[in-house]
This record gives sequence, structure tokens and C-alpha cells, in this order.
Amino acid sequence: MKAVIPAAGLGTRFLPATKAQPKEMLPVFNKPTIQYVVEEAVSSGIDDILIITGKGKRSIEDHFDRSFELEYFLQNSGKTNYLNEIESISEMADIYYVRQKKQKGLGDAILCAKKHIDGESFAVLLGDTIAQSNVPCTKQLMDVHEKYGSTVIAIEEVPDERIERYGIIKGKKIDDSLYKIEDLIEKPKLEDAPSNLGIIGRYILAPEIFDYITEIDPGVGGEIQLTDALRLLDEIYGCIFNGKLHDIGNTVDWLKSSIEIAMEHDEVKDELREYLLKILK
Ligand code: G1P
Repeated sequence: MKAVIPAAGLGTRFLPATKAQPKEMLPVFNKPTIQYVVEEAVSSGIDDILIITGKGKRSIEDHFDRSFELEYFLQNSGKTNYLNEIESISEMADIYYVRQKKQKGLGDAILCAKKHIDGESFAVLLGDTIAQSNVPCTKQLMDVHEKYGSTVIAIEEVPDERIERYGIIKGKKIDDSLYKIEDLIEKPKLEDAPSNLGIIGRYILAPEIFDYITEIDPGVGGEIQLTDALRLLDEIYGCIFNGKLHDIGNTVDWLKSSIEIAMEHDEVKDELREYLLKILK
């Protein structure tokens, strides 16, 4: 299976930080956010990844490319731990790039993948969330896809005050963690939301999605919404994600996630805990 990672957005929620650098390259602790997402695809067994980029996104390509000067320097200065890490980034997967020419929304960005995908079901991973779990989120969806053969999307309960930021599903529970989806609404008002189950940005999509994307009109925000195209598919399952999600779609959530993820690193966690306690006094 191939994966598609849309990374063409303008990052307006992070301005001015994203004026001259892609939001996907903002670090969460010691890695750019997009590296976490690529790592999730790779640990799900995917080695063919298409990143949908746009203007001003060159540093994403550089990040996943080899860097001979840096490797030479690290080799000669005996910093072999960094060397191995740097080399492994460029060897993780075959990464391809295509540019979305105009920012017309997530659905339109996915449509840019049509030629590369070539008629097979494919995974989509959005970069606004880092998903941590024993079985990677995308692999959890792949397992359901293997059983049912149709489109599967990852969902999670969303608190009321966040409903308006998500695509929300309406569905019938068919087992502990699986729903048969009957409808989906992109960013509904709380009172119009059919449930509190939100789409978290991980999908296995049937290739027919491309035809439906070309059929739909612009939706919320005047954008071609993937959620609106999903509504037209015959069969979709929603799989409750089993793991921990870190939202990094806006500055405050990004900061919280950065702290949480830093706290998982033994080399900094004690110092960070002490510092946080001190400033909170
Ligand atoms: C996109 C999707 C939305 C989903 C969300 C998850 O919205 O359109 O359905 O719930 O990602 O992060 P965006 O956050 O790009 O506005």
C-alpha cells in the first residue's frame, strides 16, 4: 500500500513562524512534525510515500534527502550517533513529491495523488496530529481494511468545545472499536453534530474517492473538502484509534504536545519537570 501525506497548506495558524518555512518542518521536541508522520507510515509497513507539497516547501524535500556535507562532518568529528540518525532519515522510504498548484482544500490536495496511486486503495496521513501507539494508527486501519476491503477512517471522541474543528461522523457501532459510518459532516456547529466522534486525520481510501472529489462543490471555508467526497462512498468504517493523539494543528496544542513528547525523553525530562514546577509556582 502507498501513503499520501498532504503538506501543501499555508500554515496560517502558525504565522509569523511559517512565513518562510513550512509548518510541517516545525519541530516537536527534536524532530520536524512531518518526520513523525513519515515514521508512522513506515512502521505501518509502507515504503512508498507521496508528499503533496506547494510553494515554499523545499526544506521538506531537503530533510528527507541525503546531506553529504553534514554526513562528512559528523563522520570526521566522531559524532557517529548523529550520523546514524541523519543517514537513516534519508533511507526510511521512497518518498515522492507533487505540488498542489493552488490551495483549494484537502480534497483537492488528495486529488493531486491520483496518478501516483494508480487505482489501488491508499493511506492518507495528515500532519496536524502525531499518533502514538503500540500498533501504529495507520496499521490499525490497514488491519480493518484487510478484513472489510473498504474505506476506513480513524476516529476519536472529541470534547464539545472542539467539535467545530473536526469532521464528525454519524454511525452504527458494530463492535467495541468499529462503526459503520452513515454520514459525515465537516466542521459542524455543536448543535448540528450527529455524534462526538471526530475524524483524526488517518484514512485508508478506496481509489473511487478521486472521482467523487471531482464531483463535489466547495464546502466549508470555500474549500474542496475530503469529508464531502467521503459522503459519496458506498461503504466506510470508522475505527476508534487505540493510542495517544497529540494535536499540533495550532500553536497552543503544538506547545502542549511538544512538552508532553519532550517528557518522554529521559535526557531532558527531570530538568523540564523542575523548570515547569518553578514557573508555575
Ligand atoms: C481536516 C479534515 C477534518 C479532520 C481534521 C483532523 O481538517 O478536513 O475532517 O477532522 O483534518 O485534523 P483541517 O484540520 O485540515 O481543517
